[in-house]
Amino acid sequence: MNVLVIGSGGREHALAWRLAQSPTVKKVYAATGNPGIAQSATCLSGNNYLQLAADHGIDLTVVGPEAPLIDGVVDQFRQAGRPIFGPVQAAAQLEGSKIFSKNFFARHNIPTARFHTATNEADALKALEDFEAPVVLKADGLAAGKGVVIAQTMEEARATVKQFMAGELVGAAGQRLVIEEFLVGEEVSFIALSDGTTILPLLPSQDHKNIFDNDQGPNTGGMGAYVDERILTNEQTQTLMETVMRPAIEGMRKEGSPFTGFLYAGLMMTANGPKTLEFNVRMGDPETQPIMYRLRSDLAQVLYNGATGKLHNSTLEWSPDPSVAIVLAAAGYPGKPTTGDVITGIDAAEATGAKVFHAGTKTNENGQLLSNGGRVLAVTASAPTLPQAIESAYRAAAPIHFAGMQFRKDIGTKGLKRW
Ligand code: AMP
Ligand code: GLY
Repeated sequence: MNVLVIGSGGREHALAWRLAQSPTVKKVYAATGNPGIAQSATCLSGNNYLQLAADHGIDLTVVGPEAPLIDGVVDQFRQAGRPIFGPVQAAAQLEGSKIFSKNFFARHNIPTARFHTATNEADALKALEDFEAPVVLKADGLAAGKGVVIAQTMEEARATVKQFMAGELVGAAGQRLVIEEFLVGEEVSFIALSDGTTILPLLPSQDHKNIFDNDQGPNTGGMGAYVDERILTNEQTQTLMETVMRPAIEGMRKEGSPFTGFLYAGLMMTANGPKTLEFNVRMGDPETQPIMYRLRSDLAQVLYNGATGKLHNSTLEWSPDPSVAIVLAAAGYPGKPTTGDVITGIDAAEATGAKVFHAGTKTNENGQLLSNGGRVLAVTASAPTLPQAIESAYRAAAPIHFAGMQFRKDIGTKGLKRW
């Protein structure tokens, strides 16, 4: 089959790379792709994805980022009778609206932080009286990672509410708020595939959201991730399937919007059990990179089965070795990144056996590879133990250079206590 990947980041490079290795795949296309993706796929420009799919005889489309899902690309493909793996617009609200998702959790008894929703300042300030500092304030709509504030004092919380409601922080998205209790624990990314009925969990992973080591500094899209079965015990996985994934998939079906696609539960493992911080309706970035690195199954066939209601015919097989992805980011990130710096050393990195996934890269007229975004590369490696996998990933990253490159030195180290 011919497959189209929508997106142009590190997640999409990992998907395109793995899809290109599927025995059932004739050709992979990407819209719009990047120079790394171009090694595995033919990159297409334009964002009329349905037209691109028709023009190139696409049998299966896989959506990377949330924006096209929330815009309804899956509804469009479905109406045209073209298989696509992702949720319809109504189901994508699980990520597109925090108020929708929190109320959905409540309707279906999915464990989450205690919360209140508010759509005006007076209500939000009143609701704050039922919370203690630190308290979490979340803008309702998509806010490019800037919509969550953890207020350390109630005074800061009140001031932040006023700023959100005045539209000063993230515009209109901040004029509808979720106020919720602050949870303490380790964060885990638990992602599953569903065709609306069958649920197939992927291996658990952990992201590293802050820019600096030891979870310091501002939040980013994710500075690295690792995949290791030991992140969750079998019992925890079973609990998550029964209390989070199954109620979510069955809940969406009962509410008339069956969920097809990747469902990503961002969890906090608290002393009182796992709590769902959020759902994303897509794969994580950078979690996808170490997850795809380990996947052994025919990804295209699995996703085709997912898109056509036949996921019960699929199983997932994995390489046994833990995998680690280290994000190399540009100077300035997570603020405005410096771009246009020459990148060297990727061949040397891959000569160690690692895979270097491209996120923000481009080539110039001389064929040189340049940085072109906040997160630039994700160096991904695996080894029989987590300590060895971490070492392999950092050894692979060592030869790579571009001006102002920044990366965390502690990716995966939270997992070492389990070894
Ligand atoms: P979200 O977009 O809802 O996942 O929030 C972004 C990040 O804020 C999460 O990855 C957590 O690190 C943090 N966060 C969100 N909600 C809470 C909470 N209730 N308690 C503690 N930290 C939280
Ligand atoms: N790595 C976090 C995310 O993809 O949302």
